[in-house]
Amino acid sequence: VIAMYPRIDINIKKLKYNVNQVQKLCRSKGIGFWAVTKGFCALPEVARALVEAGADGLADSRLDNLKKLKDIPCKKILLRLPMQCELDSVVEYADYSFNSDLSSLTLLGQAALKRGKTHNVIIMIDMGDLREGLWPSEVDSFVGRALDIRGIEIKGFGVNLTCFGGVLPEEDNLGKFARISHEMEVKYNLDIEIISGGNSSSFYLLNEGRLPVGINNLRFGEVILFGSEAAFGQLIDGLHNDSFILKAQIVEIRKKPSIPIGNIGKDAFGNVPVFEDKGVVKRAIVAMGKQDIDLQTIHPIDESIEIIGASSDHTILNLSNCSKDYKVGDVVEFYIHYVSLLKASTSNYVNKNVINE
Ligand SMILES: Cc1ncc(COP(=O)(O)O)c(C=O)c1O
Repeated sequence: VIAMYPRIDINIKKLKYNVNQVQKLCRSKGIGFWAVTKGFCALPEVARALVEAGADGLADSRLDNLKKLKDIPCKKILLRLPMQCELDSVVEYADYSFNSDLSSLTLLGQAALKRGKTHNVIIMIDMGDLREGLWPSEVDSFVGRALDIRGIEIKGFGVNLTCFGGVLPEEDNLGKFARISHEMEVKYNLDIEIISGGNSSSFYLLNEGRLPVGINNLRFGEVILFGSEAAFGQLIDGLHNDSFILKAQIVEIRKKPSIPIGNIGKDAFGNVPVFEDKGVVKRAIVAMGKQDIDLQTIHPIDESIEIIGASSDHTILNLSNCSKDYKVGDVVEFYIHYVSLLKASTSNYVNKNVINE
């Protein structure tokens, strides 16, 4: 077998271990959790392992990803508000979807009724991060009107923080969210299953036993995939943070100056580059680039390698400080974090290698 690069090695055993640890913690606090699969584009083999290890459901923002998971026996959740062009598939592939719009809910109900189904809806409330969701003052009238829509049933409430506005989940905002959800449940006699208090940025509250009463569900991508929480970027003790390793092959090694020669215009991405003069350096090119990764979220495992920059298909490394004598054909390994994993998983040019032992 010829090993192909660039590729991501995905260590299923480590991911399962993370899920298992998170499940134990969640269970001890009476919380359920959904594993968020978008980071690895919902590769079914990987997603299935997360369910086997204890996730209560699989959640993704893309319907295309949920379609890939249709044969895995667990609940599927569409994390992003559905587009009106995809509602038939929402009903088919998602057991729950997140919503904040009455016209979409009306059409979603019609799509469900066409299939003889009722679709489970989670209403999103915006507690200040300013991405999706109803303003708290709107929730009451929204729920009152949504109850008139046939073909849907309100099964829960959700909040998302830290993703857009960077707002931290705290006892105050999540407590208010849980109270609003409970008031709606009582006032409208709703059959509420899910009060979903956020993503991996809420993990620290769970870990410290400070998650407000009433919240019974969280949605975890980062915690499981990278063993880090998303509020402060801290690694979580006892979880693996190297379940995904990116590997790229060297196609050129040459000594070159660190400052380009000639008048400087714009680079391939429209920026005017600025370079620090480090004299002549030993440079390697690996065959992957900004089409496949993001430079801020890959880190060479060999810490003596420095990333100089990249264009769409080439990443340039400084090997001057390396004790290892790298050659063309050698493979450089990188730790990879969320943004690069998203890009690498999405890139057709990056091979996905699932390691199962
Ligand atoms: C609505 C929603 N919930 C949960 C997540 C998972 O976030 P994280 O990876 O921080 O756990 C995301 C994004 O990935 C999201 O958009």
